[in-house]
Amino acid sequence: MAIELKSESEIAIMREAGVILADVLDIVMAAVQPGVRETELDDLVREEFKRRDVIPTFLGYNGYPATICVSVNDKIVHAIPNRRSFREGDVASIDLGLTHRGFVADCARTVAVGEVPSRVGLLIRTTEEALDIGIRELLPANHMGDVGAAIQEYSEARGFGVVREYVGHGVGRLMHEEPQVPNYGKRGKGLTLRKGMVLALEPMLNMGTWKTARDPDGWTVRTADGALSAHFEHTVAVTENGPLVLTTNLAQPAAARPANTLVAG
Ligand code: MF3
Ligand code: CO
Repeated sequence: MAIELKSESEIAIMREAGVILADVLDIVMAAVQPGVRETELDDLVREEFKRRDVIPTFLGYNGYPATICVSVNDKIVHAIPNRRSFREGDVASIDLGLTHRGFVADCARTVAVGEVPSRVGLLIRTTEEALDIGIRELLPANHMGDVGAAIQEYSEARGFGVVREYVGHGVGRLMHEEPQVPNYGKRGKGLTLRKGMVLALEPMLNMGTWKTARDPDGWTVRTADGALSAHFEHTVAVTENGPLVLTTNLAQPAAARPANTLVAG
């Protein structure tokens, strides 16, 4: 299937979707506390989506049975929320998506529950920074390999494994559109980015090996060696003014500023 380029007015709708999603994600991340069950977060998101009149995109997607994914510790992505309560020291990745006025926004963040060893904090920070570094490469005429290479180099320099078997994706009227967006690659290789592409970048970094294993439930993806994993994701539009992060309710972060803009002062 061909890549669906989005018009400015479509991107404006996707930005609305992204702001709503970021607001809900703020609420969910604040609710990740010792003693809270994963299923309670799913209930919370269902409520917040209903209040905002948006559709949960994950629910029913290829038969997925929940509104969010809650991937704790060695779980990397796509874990179905269960009745387990969070404990001090957990590393919790929360992934959620919504459909608003016919367009999807997809976003994920990872948080530590209470105190964690410094290397675990570094894993989480590095994953978020790797996402930002990948976003900076989302410029017209850059290659997809520039995005992957930037994420991979930054992550591997800190000793973390970059998941290869799951990748980011185009996003629009469908959650998963062309093209695939790998978190590894070679500069100058891969397809050429164009204005109007909207991409979900989602680096997954592991404390150990990049290799994964799937649970018998057919969804949950874990690290092959049982080590911890972190995941951050944004939906981003490629524009002639540089990358526009759609899934944020903040003023555009510095990473999204066009490379050729000088800030006065
Ligand atoms: N961000 C995840 C992805 O793009 C969302 C998966 S949703 C699920 O793969 F419904 F497939 F679980
Ligand atoms: Co995604």
